[in-house]
Amino acid sequence: MPSQSDPRVLAKAPTVVRATDVSKRFVIRKEKSLKERIVNFGRSQKHKDDFWALRNVSFEIKAGTTIGLVGANGSGKSTLLKVLGGIIQPNDGTVERRGRLAALLELGAGFHPDLTGRENVYLNSSILGLSRKQTDEYFQSIVDFSEIEEFIDTQVKFYSSGMYVRLAFAIAVHVDPDILLVDEVLAVGDEPFQAKCMSKIRQFQAEGRTIILVSHSAGQIEDLCDRVVVLSHGNVVFDGDAAGGLLALRESFEH
Ligand SMILES: Nc1ncnc2c1ncn2[C@@H]1O[C@H](COP(=O)(O)OP(=O)(O)OP(=O)(O)O)[C@@H](O)[C@H]1O
Ligand SMILES: [Mg+2]
Repeated sequence: MPSQSDPRVLAKAPTVVRATDVSKRFVIRKEKSLKERIVNFGRSQKHKDDFWALRNVSFEIKAGTTIGLVGANGSGKSTLLKVLGGIIQPNDGTVERRGRLAALLELGAGFHPDLTGRENVYLNSSILGLSRKQTDEYFQSIVDFSEIEEFIDTQVKFYSSGMYVRLAFAIAVHVDPDILLVDEVLAVGDEPFQAKCMSKIRQFQAEGRTIILVSHSAGQIEDLCDRVVVLSHGNVVFDGDAAGGLLALRESFEH
């Protein structure tokens, strides 16, 4: 029997994410020197630059795919994940999604610093569409997975980076997501926790869930991904198999 990641199976799977001509622009304000401020008094337009973090990005993702999103620092990976997750809006283009989405984005994203771990679990679960009763059922399992029970009633602003990620990952994998977005964050977990996350990701793959993974680890990409999309200066410069993607990634470093 072909596995979930078999291209023949994936070809027939429904599309769960479709990005069409997605572009995202940021306005960069440059710090002015005191002299410039006096000379340009009141006319600051010169110090605003448009910066396109994503340009005309288009692709479709079939259910059950694990897709690796790679590229140099600043190439637009985190921005693309946020657009796919609906956390920020593109300036142009559209994103369509099917199914429940859980996202592990930059450190602390989605957590309220003044609330405790416990309160954040409930807050996050309700944002992701779980009822209080459902969260009650999952709660202990989330805490057990995170292994931070001792600190569950501490405000998360006092958490270490690893503790944040532990709790965020535990929540994300307990809300029964159809689509899981994972930014680089896993790298801050210690080795045993990273291994635990990897086996959870493999379980998700076997269950036919869709995973979009940003990683700087070639080994991780090769191990996990059916498909790799390479970003360079906000453009998709490669979309294909993992081996080809890693080659294109190395090439993109030179541009
Ligand atoms: N809110 C923002 N305001 C202005 N510029 C931004 C903002 N968010 C991202 N950028 C810019 O967009 C570009 C892409 O950033 P992004 O975080 O998507 O890169 P990345 O590929 O995730 O990089 P890394 O590998 O370092 O995580 C960068 O040049 C960044 O400075
Ligand atoms: Mg990033």
